[in-house]
Amino acid sequence: DKEGHRHFMAKEIHEQPEVIAHTISRYVDPAEMTVRLPKGAFDFKKLDRLTISACGTAYYAGLVSKYWFEKWARLPIEIDVASELRYRDVPWTKNGGALFISQSGETADTLAALREACANGQQIAAVVNVAESSIAREADVIFPMTAGPEIGVASTKAFTCQLVSLACIAIAAGRERGTLSAEEEKELVGGLLEIPRLVAEALKQSDKIEAIARDIAKATGVFYIGRGVSYPMALEGALKLKEISYIHAEGYAAGELKHGPIALIDENLPIAVIAPMDAHFEKTVSNMQEVMARDGKALLISCKDGIAAAGARAWASIETPKTHPMLAPVVYAVPVQLLAYFTATTKGTDVDQPRNLAKSVTVE
Ligand code: M6R
Repeated sequence: DKEGHRHFMAKEIHEQPEVIAHTISRYVDPAEMTVRLPKGAFDFKKLDRLTISACGTAYYAGLVSKYWFEKWARLPIEIDVASELRYRDVPWTKNGGALFISQSGETADTLAALREACANGQQIAAVVNVAESSIAREADVIFPMTAGPEIGVASTKAFTCQLVSLACIAIAAGRERGTLSAEEEKELVGGLLEIPRLVAEALKQSDKIEAIARDIAKATGVFYIGRGVSYPMALEGALKLKEISYIHAEGYAAGELKHGPIALIDENLPIAVIAPMDAHFEKTVSNMQEVMARDGKALLISCKDGIAAAGARAWASIETPKTHPMLAPVVYAVPVQLLAYFTATTKGTDVDQPRNLAKSVTVE
């Protein structure tokens, strides 16, 4: 049942305020403003390294969490796509933990990477949406992301629920390792509790994004750039666009543009610039200006102040509510998803069942 929406993807995008709030409620104690994890979770004090692995969009959620675990928990992170990790000769550490992320819990490569880590003595945890899945069964501890069933092949609400689960795990890790103060934990929990409202606000930009998507639909290629936690969001934006609209799209770390990709910039190449007002804002904006100086069509995705500061000469902009800077990916997921969605509906592609793709990839 699409509940009045044209596609499951649209329904699932709009469900996000609710399912994110639900996932957060599994982890957060709002009275104490602290995070709590399920029993038997990692002994973060003892961990000497955390290996994170997944495929596709779930991998990008993992990549965002790398920044969180490093900053809040000072935990060394190893991260790779599962199809590589499973065949690498990883020098596993003695007190290592491994964290696998999967909506379906049935992705063949992720399951194989989990078994490899397990065989090498790692403590295994999984962030999964389907509690009775293979990955959930084989993990020592499950971190639930209660997104509810996701039908659209393009992952949307599962991604944002993965993000908030991972943020809670990283906050708890920081507290246990003594690298995050009670004060900082409170501030982050406050930021998390605001997210459902901010996501609902971000959804209000639908009409504006639909208008922009009508132009994007004419492009033969689109770039996405971002820095820090927005770098994985650039990768996610590009994946979302290519999988449902069939337009060639690439995501880059903003600083990598001048190491090659900038050669492709001309007046026909739209570039989505994911630039929340965080510590990297100025740097990302200067990359955007380099693009504009080469006649590139810059689409600035930022907050009201960010657009006021840097949007004047951009081709277009999408206003996104201001968030805690480290938690911006959860809110910025919304414009990224809607841009892909409306580009696909403009082109008339099969949004929920894109060609050549399956919802659950159970073969390698
Ligand atoms: O079920 P999983 O989370 O393990 O699936 C992983 C990927 O196959 C999945 O995220 C895929 O990349 C999506 N179609 C992206 O929208």
